[in-house]
Amino acid sequence: MNELTDSFPLLEYPPQHVGIIMDGNGRWAEANGKSRYQGHQAGTDNLERLLDDSIEFGVKMITAYAFSTENWRRSTIEIKGLMKILERVIDNRLVELSRKGVQLRHLGDLEKLESTLRKKILQGIESTRHNEKLILNVAFNYGGRSEIVQAVQRVIQDKIPPEQITEELLSRYMYTAGSPDPDLIIRTSGEFRTSNFLIWQAAYAEYYVTPTYWPDFNKTEYYRALSEFGKRDRRYGGRKG
Ligand code: FPP
Repeated sequence: MNELTDSFPLLEYPPQHVGIIMDGNGRWAEANGKSRYQGHQAGTDNLERLLDDSIEFGVKMITAYAFSTENWRRSTIEIKGLMKILERVIDNRLVELSRKGVQLRHLGDLEKLESTLRKKILQGIESTRHNEKLILNVAFNYGGRSEIVQAVQRVIQDKIPPEQITEELLSRYMYTAGSPDPDLIIRTSGEFRTSNFLIWQAAYAEYYVTPTYWPDFNKTEYYRALSEFGKRDRRYGGRKG
């Protein structure tokens, strides 16, 4: 399939919810003689492009892993850069994304973010909440284990009796409450790790791992990932009937 010359046939079984671990921005930057900041910026441009593709391909929800709880270990300059990028996307790109029908949501702990960014995220969520074409969950200051810990803390605060604690109940205490679990997780730049991403929700997700660095992950490869997903036989631990 060539992006420039071919069209992309309708997918029979597009995944509803795709999670993306956008890895390789730093290595892409190094390979292209650019700064890490420019690498993350190129990654952000690529995410915006992928949102258009997602609408075209029939995907309903994207969860993008933009800043993990572990990312606080990076240099201050890189952390500030990532915060700035998110702020700029909300300031400069959200109106256009909203026009296309994108609804912004956030997964993670907002409390540790600077108040300006926190307010912008909340305003962005509010201003796009009626959009229905595509839901974009931005996992920002997100960690799967800390998500489970905060869920358990709130279950205890709510004094839920042990016999009422079920998988369904815990799911309602996760940041993704009310959302479908991811069907497919895409991880770029060749690492075979979950990296604390949606570890509760991805119990039955299919994985697509590619050596491509995130900024180079294009429409053709996205289509390939989605069509491979459509061919997989998902048994959820059961046997073929
Ligand atoms: C991993 O690449 C990427 C990140 C830690 C950040 C990804 C964030 C963005 C693309 C910004 C997204 C912004 C919005 C608005 C959702 P890496 O730095 O670990 O790359 P490396 O492993 O090659 O060094």
